[in-house]
Amino acid sequence: MKKVNSEYTVSVNFDQRLYAQDIAGSIAHVEMLAEQQILTSSDSKQIVKGLLQIRHEIESESFQWDFQLEDLHMNIENRLHEIVGPVAGKMHTARSRNDQVSLDLRMYVKESIIKIRKNISSLQMVLIQLAESNLNTVMPGYTHLQQAQPILFAHHMLAYFEMLTRDDLRFKYAYDSSDVLPLGSGALAGVPYPINRETVAKKLGFSRISQNSMDAVSDRDFLVDFLSSSSILMMHLSRFSEELIIWSSTEFGFVELSEDFTTGSSIMPQKRNPDFAELARGKTGRVFGSLFGLLTVLKGLPLTYNRDLQEDKEGFFDTFDTLNATLEIFIEMIGSITVKPNQMRDTALKGQLLATDYADYLVGKGIPFREAYGIINQLSSYAIKNKKDFSEISLNELKEFSEKFDQDISEISLESSVENRNVSGGTSQQQVKISIAAAKSQMNGKN
Ligand code: ARG
Repeated sequence: MKKVNSEYTVSVNFDQRLYAQDIAGSIAHVEMLAEQQILTSSDSKQIVKGLLQIRHEIESESFQWDFQLEDLHMNIENRLHEIVGPVAGKMHTARSRNDQVSLDLRMYVKESIIKIRKNISSLQMVLIQLAESNLNTVMPGYTHLQQAQPILFAHHMLAYFEMLTRDDLRFKYAYDSSDVLPLGSGALAGVPYPINRETVAKKLGFSRISQNSMDAVSDRDFLVDFLSSSSILMMHLSRFSEELIIWSSTEFGFVELSEDFTTGSSIMPQKRNPDFAELARGKTGRVFGSLFGLLTVLKGLPLTYNRDLQEDKEGFFDTFDTLNATLEIFIEMIGSITVKPNQMRDTALKGQLLATDYADYLVGKGIPFREAYGIINQLSSYAIKNKKDFSEISLNELKEFSEKFDQDISEISLESSVENRNVSGGTSQQQVKISIAAAKSQMNGKN
């Protein structure tokens, strides 16, 4: 039969990344076959020896990948034949590439998640340190990107700590959904040999075995879990990027990014472009794309294995690489940031961030909140018209708006506003210190 464009069907150019998992899986499989007396122990030993040689060849880059052989599994089996002869044909007893490829992927995903969770923890540690060294840094908090109320910069950093905690939990779940041994499912119906799936699971570090062979060979939910957890984490890092980009602009000037994470312009000498943050924001698109790509691949597939499933790998590898690199960059970029407390404070003073506190002040003097709100609303227009900060409006001027204003209005400041929000989860220094302590003990509990 004439081979029509076999390039179209090959996966070896990308699935060779699974070689270590594939070989470990095959070794566990043939060892179990010998234990069950399905293979002789000398056959099994020869196969294992050959597989170890192949692993060495791949790692020393002397392995000749043959793209005519479709995928990694066939490449390894073919080379095994060359090394150990016909006994190589016994390796695939009681196995199919359908349960084999699922096994390899699950192993790879589990290892990837361990790396990602480590990096999430490191980033969380950096955020805790940044929060701790900024317990006195007051900045404007925003809603609608309009100045709203004063907050501590530490509080803002800890908001990202919370997001990362949820991300970590999602990856923990994705790990659990990958941690199921599919081997023994065969092509789809199970295998007609007295194999021992539990020992294979144990050898390969799986906590349980799959319960339905048809589900096992067609299931890629664990990859969807990985990609959706990755998408949500990238969405968080993209929001963070957006803030860094805004904050490092001349207009804001709240932070300065280290030179390692900015680049100049080829024409404008003054530029320090936040390229890394921009690219993190931009690369979020390809991660979302991989999630939607896989969901779309899966949505129309009848049980069980279909070749469409081969399309699960590139998006996964790309997502892992992108996410891991982005986390590593964030650990360094956030760790080397220069915070500009004076600039934050000046900007906060120029805004009308204390408007709510002024209204609450009048409430304290017995005025109903809605009425107080109306009074401060007029005061705010007056301040804008006269180009004054609230702190620059004299008591006499204030009294024009309400007789209730008194000397003690001068006690309202950015700091008092922050300190007054002393409710659990609020921005007061006391609460932020509690949050930092909780964050630290959470991190200690993890390690
Ligand atoms: N290259 C295939 C994949 O990645 C391996 C499984 C092939 N199974 C098959 N029946 N053709 O999905």
